[in-house]
Amino acid sequence: MVVERRDKNNKVITEDEEEEERRGFDDENEIWWFSESIDKTATDVLTYYMTLDTTKYKHLKPRNDKFISDIILGFLIAGRDTTSSAPTWFFWLLSKNPEAMTKIRQEINKKMTKFNPADLDKLVYLHGAVCETLRLYPPVPFNHKSPAKPDVLPKFQIVISTYALGRMRSVRGDDAEDFKPERWISASGRLRHEPSYKFLAFNAGPRTCLGQKLTFLQMKTMAVEVIRNYDFKVVEGHKTETVPSVLLRMQHGLKVSVTRV
Ligand code: HEM
Repeated sequence: MVVERRDKNNKVITEDEEEEERRGFDDENEIWWFSESIDKTATDVLTYYMTLDTTKYKHLKPRNDKFISDIILGFLIAGRDTTSSAPTWFFWLLSKNPEAMTKIRQEINKKMTKFNPADLDKLVYLHGAVCETLRLYPPVPFNHKSPAKPDVLPKFQIVISTYALGRMRSVRGDDAEDFKPERWISASGRLRHEPSYKFLAFNAGPRTCLGQKLTFLQMKTMAVEVIRNYDFKVVEGHKTETVPSVLLRMQHGLKVSVTRV
């Protein structure tokens, strides 16, 4: 996918991410947009960890069954409730913003007449809508950090509210509370690149979420199939409240009535 970002001097730079991936571009501190053509060298997670080159990673123990089962369990936990929380808020936000829903449907009908995963990266507006959902309702609403060993303060934890950060006017402007997929699209119609320290839904730095690309793949695939075929309305009187917990769930779920388009 071709995206636009700005350098330190605010100059627009256009990047072809597929080309960068081919060259082994390591974009540790920035969001990795889903941009895949199928990678023929790809392997499954289990095989990947079992065949790791241990000389490179001294803390990884791929020959140890517990290590492998912990890794796989981690993936299952990290990738399950997060990707079920996000669609709930996504469809709720679309029901509140029907014009965004119409734009997504138009984009799908124009750019993806037949489903092809390789074409998902053409759906820029839909991508922006997913980002807006994760900004306003991050499935992991806060993150905490603590030092590995005592530092200036003897023992402390820093809690970062990803939920609050996504809504701060000083960061996002006066329309911070509004759902605007356009926010993620540049004047030339491409995706705007954003530092992951600003868009913190997937965390940032070395412990960033390993499932980012998969999340966009899942969310966009599901959205294409649902929005292309169905219209939905939130049932009148249904209350939507957030449950304050490790995961940002919707109290009572989302009740909708569905009709075929
Ligand atoms: C909307 C979807 C998702 C969101 C918002 C999300 C968010 C996050 C966040 C905030 C972290 C950092 C947690 C921490 O620092 O304690 C994380 C870590 C992780 N995520 Fe996700 N995640 C999502 C989906 C997925 C999926 C689909 C997978 C894989 C199937 C996945 C795999 C992981 C793994 C393995 C880690 C641990 C990385 C590490 O510590 O090295 N995530 N995720």
